[in-house]
Amino acid sequence: MGKVIFGDSRDMREVSNESVGLVLSSPPYYNAPYDFPDLFRDYRSYISTLREVLFEVRRVLQRGRAAVFVVQDVRIDGELYPITADLISLAREIGLRYQDRIIWRKPEGYIRISRRSGVFVQHPYPLYFYPDNVYEDVLVFRKEGKPQLINREESKVDLNLFQREKWYLSVWELTNVLPSQRWSKFTAAFPEELAKRVITLYSCVGDVVLDPFLGTGTTAAVARALRRDFVGYEVDLELEEVIRERVGEAEVVKRSDAKRLRTTLKAAVTKRTPSDSSPSL
Ligand SMILES: C[S@@+](CC[C@H](N)C(=O)[O-])C[C@H]1O[C@@H](n2cnc3c(N)ncnc32)[C@H](O)[C@@H]1O
Repeated sequence: MGKVIFGDSRDMREVSNESVGLVLSSPPYYNAPYDFPDLFRDYRSYISTLREVLFEVRRVLQRGRAAVFVVQDVRIDGELYPITADLISLAREIGLRYQDRIIWRKPEGYIRISRRSGVFVQHPYPLYFYPDNVYEDVLVFRKEGKPQLINREESKVDLNLFQREKWYLSVWELTNVLPSQRWSKFTAAFPEELAKRVITLYSCVGDVVLDPFLGTGTTAAVARALRRDFVGYEVDLELEEVIRERVGEAEVVKRSDAKRLRTTLKAAVTKRTPSDSSPSL
């Protein structure tokens, strides 16, 4: 049975050392205006949160196994914050080896925030160009050591699928979660297909898959469907219902450091409330 812990993943005391076969997660994208306005006091405190979580990730990961993060730089008031570059530096600093960067390319029809290139249409002159963003980074890190594979034959990857869907490329063209899916309104969830590829390619049947920023539970739901076990951390108690719905039966632990965030975050997105009335981590 899987486990969902409502609490801050800077402390993953419920997970023992070297017990996790794969980490798959998408951290909050700093104070992204459409998801997490003013969640963190400043960029330094955001980076320090990531560092603490990565430290825990390294502790719980088995030797030779992978930690995979879906991230993207974020633009706030015109300034671009280099989350991808900083996450790579942090991971390397704490001793995880940087192995690969896969680009998740979204369909062109999907531009979530705004069409930045619209400025150029109005002013078609040099230096008025601002590209529309259609990708996210999938960063793959490895802990040192030789991996021990369990259930090797059962975990064998379907080569026909691998070839047909071009999993072998460093660019994966995948449709994002559509607004018709209920959980799309809670977090910027990554698609189940992305989780399916990562879990199939980097873990074995029976492994524990950990997501330290569980959100609506995509990692856990797909891990279960692929016969892996899972542990997920989510700080926001308001996601309990959607997580239970997506993940099914699981042991649920509620720690005293869990919070209620969504309602306030949503209100801040709608009204763009000043930072002092927003929740913070
Ligand atoms: C980008 S979302 C994850 C989306 C997820 N992949 C999904 O499929 O829904 C990041 C999540 O991390 C949670 N979070 C932020 N800081 C956290 C922390 N310190 N510990 C645990 N969860 C945290 C947020 O509440 C949010 O739900």
